[in-house]
Order: sequence, then structure tokens, then C-alpha cells
Amino acid sequence: MKLADNKATLSFSNGSPSVELPVYQGNVGPDVVDIRKLYAQTGMFTYDPGFLSTAACQSAITYIDGDKGELLYRGYPIEQLATQCDYLDTCHLLLYGNLPNAEAKAKFTKTVTYHTMVNEQMQFFLRGFRRDAHPMAIMTGLVGAMSAFYHDSTDINNPEHREISAIRLIAKMPTLVAMAYKYSAGQPYVYPRNDLSYAGNFLHMMFATPCEEYKVNPVIERALDRIFILHADHEQNASTSTVRLCGSSGTNPFAAIAAGVACLWGPAHGGANEACLTMLEDIQRMGGISKVGEFMNQVKDKSSNVKLMGFGHRVYKNYDPRAKLMQETCKEVLTALGLENDPLFKLAMSLEKIALEDDYFVQRKLYPNVDFYSGIVQRAIGIPVSLFTAIFALARTVGWIAQLNEMIGDPEYKIGRPRQLFTGSVKRDVPPVGAR
Ligand code: ACO
Repeated sequence: MKLADNKATLSFSNGSPSVELPVYQGNVGPDVVDIRKLYAQTGMFTYDPGFLSTAACQSAITYIDGDKGELLYRGYPIEQLATQCDYLDTCHLLLYGNLPNAEAKAKFTKTVTYHTMVNEQMQFFLRGFRRDAHPMAIMTGLVGAMSAFYHDSTDINNPEHREISAIRLIAKMPTLVAMAYKYSAGQPYVYPRNDLSYAGNFLHMMFATPCEEYKVNPVIERALDRIFILHADHEQNASTSTVRLCGSSGTNPFAAIAAGVACLWGPAHGGANEACLTMLEDIQRMGGISKVGEFMNQVKDKSSNVKLMGFGHRVYKNYDPRAKLMQETCKEVLTALGLENDPLFKLAMSLEKIALEDDYFVQRKLYPNVDFYSGIVQRAIGIPVSLFTAIFALARTVGWIAQLNEMIGDPEYKIGRPRQLFTGSVKRDVPPVGAR
């Protein structure tokens, strides 16, 4: 971290002595005021629920400029990665800091490919779930359970264990998501195939049956690969921060990633793609485009608690660059599948147009986020709505691991332990039962 020339001075109106706080500069983005010694110096904490102004760590992985609508993985714009690289290039980049050359790519691809099978015992573990269990409930359990199956890679302080667990997680997540799907559909599991690409193999495990060959459609394969790239990392979002906090106790990587999966499930985070598609289907059922105005009035009425899902973002106060790429992919997939007139896509475009011109959204800088179009693409591919967030988790796994490994290697890393402003009862005595 680089010290800035200036310092911050915190003064108090009650005459307590002011304190000087160091300021650090990143390579780009806002400077940070270092408040680590504030409590020792003043006996005070800072208060920032929701981390609106708090940098919880230093990181060199992903940079977002929310005002410009810019997203960089290790410095490379997401638009270039999405159009010139594939998901395994992106995984290599996030994990190791560089885009692989041909030799490194071949080696990395082989390593990932040869770890895609899961311990056979995992299917018996999976069998304990109800067939109608939500895939995210299953994924939280399965990823956590990996620590019970892969004992030789659970020591977070051992670099070799971290490397093996990273590869295992990236390689096995598609297998586990596809198994969760097959289980809910009552179909036999389909084993991975080493001659297919990462995305192609996932499509094969999802849609092949023992009865017939499944031929991977290259347009769908590329679209899915792009979905994976766009979701691969997003700096210190809720699930990544969860992974870091969980991992900061020294727990094993599988347990930390399972915590990330659980966090991602929520509708304000990764669950938004499912919630967005459900919203579009509801509007469609109510009458489609003709009901958009009525729906928008509900969204703007704060007492209704209705939100335009897939819109708004804590960091982006401009168009989410991933949403633009996703809209492009959406058009390509619908055209390739002969679904150009898909009513949900038309409905989404019409909602977006109205929202982008509406004062409510303009004033609050609310723009479509990545989830606005990803659900339509996944639905067109044949992925059930309930599986959308599990696919997000699959793609985000590499980001979670890269961030976790970065934290372990950071000399400033400590167990995460936030403080609080206590507003409960002060000390009191337990009254006898009759007097309560
Ligand atoms: N529809 C209607 N109003 C909204 C929406 C929305 N989607 N998003 C924000 N607003 C309003 C809020 O009500 C608030 O209004 P106010 O200032 O009058 O009170 C204002 O815009 C600011 O929003 P906050 O909720 O304070 O912003 P915050 O940063 O806390 O929340 C969030 C961001 C959770 C993403 C929010 O925009 C939201 O719930 N969006 C819908 C869910 C969604 O799409 N989530 C996906 C996020 S991206 C991802 O995880 C991949």
C-alpha cells in the first residue's frame, strides 16, 4: 500500500484532542483513510452498516468504476475478455494474475478437465435431499461436504492445498450443479467428458441422457461461456466478503466457498436473476407489455415493496457493462434458436426503455444489471429458473477462491471481527420467574 502525501485529521466538537490518520492510495479509485488505530487512540469505533464507505481489504484482482460503468479483471476490460478470451483464460487470469499463453492454457485446461469427476460417494450424499429441494440448498450442502471428501486439500495455510482445492472447486462445480439438476429431474447423472470444453461439458452433463448423444450447439456453448466470464468476479460484493470473512478464521476452502454460495442465494444478490425472470413471467401472465405502466407504478410506490428486479446496483451508477454484453448474447441465442420474437425478451426491452427514461430511475441512477438479461438467455438454453443462481455460483467460484487466496497471502490479513454500536439493555439482574 502506498502512503498518500496528505493525512486525515479527525477532530471532535467536545474538545477531545484531534487525531491524525494515515491515508493510502490505490493505483486507481478512491484513497482510503486508515482507521485501524482509531479505537486505541480515541476509544471510538466507526459506524458503517452495509460497508457504504469502508474498504475491508486491499485487493489487486478486480476494479470497478461504478460511475463510468467500467469493470476490469486484473486490469483487462470485461468487454475484451468476453469477446477475446474464454472462461478458462479468465480463471487463469483471476487465479494467477496473468492471461495464459498457449502452453500455460493447455496445461491449465488439462488440469481442470482431469478434475471434473467427483467422488462417487457424493451421489449417495446427494440422494439424502428431497427431489424438490432448491438447487442452492443442495449446492450449499454439496460444496460444504467437499471438505469431507477431499481431506488432502483442507489446510488453508498450505499453498499446495490451496492450489489443489482451487482446481477441484473450479473443475467440480459444473459436475455438482448438473448432478443437482439431474437429481431434481429424476434422470441418471451424466459423467463429465474430457473431449469437451468447460461450457460444452457442462451442457453435456445437463442435457445428455444415456439414451442418446447430445450435440453441443456452439452458439449456446459460447453464450454459456460468456455468462461464466461475466460472473467470474466482482470485487468485494456480499458473497465474496462472506468468503473472506469465513476464510479469515482459518477454516478450509470448501467451507468458505460454501458460505459464499449461501450468501449468493439471496434475491438482493445472485438470486436476482431468478427473481427477475419470475417478475417478467408474472407481468407476462398479467397481460404483458400492456401492463408495464401499471407495474412501473407499483415499483415507484414505496409502500408496495415491489422492485424492478435486475435493476440497480450498489456500485454501478451507470449501465452495468455486463448487462450490455448479456443483452448482446441474449439476441444471439434467441436468433440461433429461432426465438427472435420471445415475448419475455420483448417485455424486458420495453421495461428497460421505460425505466431508462423515467425520472424515478434517472434520479436514483438505476440501470439494468447483469441479471436483467441473463435469465432470458438461460431460459432459452433450457436451464430451469431454479438453477440460475447455482450457475452464477459455479461461475463465481473462481473469483471467491482468487480473493480467498489473495487474503491468505496478504501480510495485513487478520481474522475479520467487526465491532458494534450497542443499543440493547444495559446490565440488569435476572428477576425471579414470578416477577417477569
Ligand atoms: N427498483 C426500484 N427501486 C429501486 C431499485 C429497484 N430495483 N433499486 C434501488 N431502488 C431505489 C431504492 O428504493 C432507493 O430509493 P430511495 O432513495 O427513494 O429510498 C434507491 O433506489 C437506492 O437504492 P438502495 O436500495 O438504497 O441501494 P443499495 O445499494 O442498497 O441496493 C440493490 C442495491 C440491492 C442491488 C438494489 O438496487 C436492488 O434491490 N435491486 C434489485 C435486485 C437486483 O437486481 N439485485 C442484483 C444485484 S447485481 C448482482 O448481485 C449480480
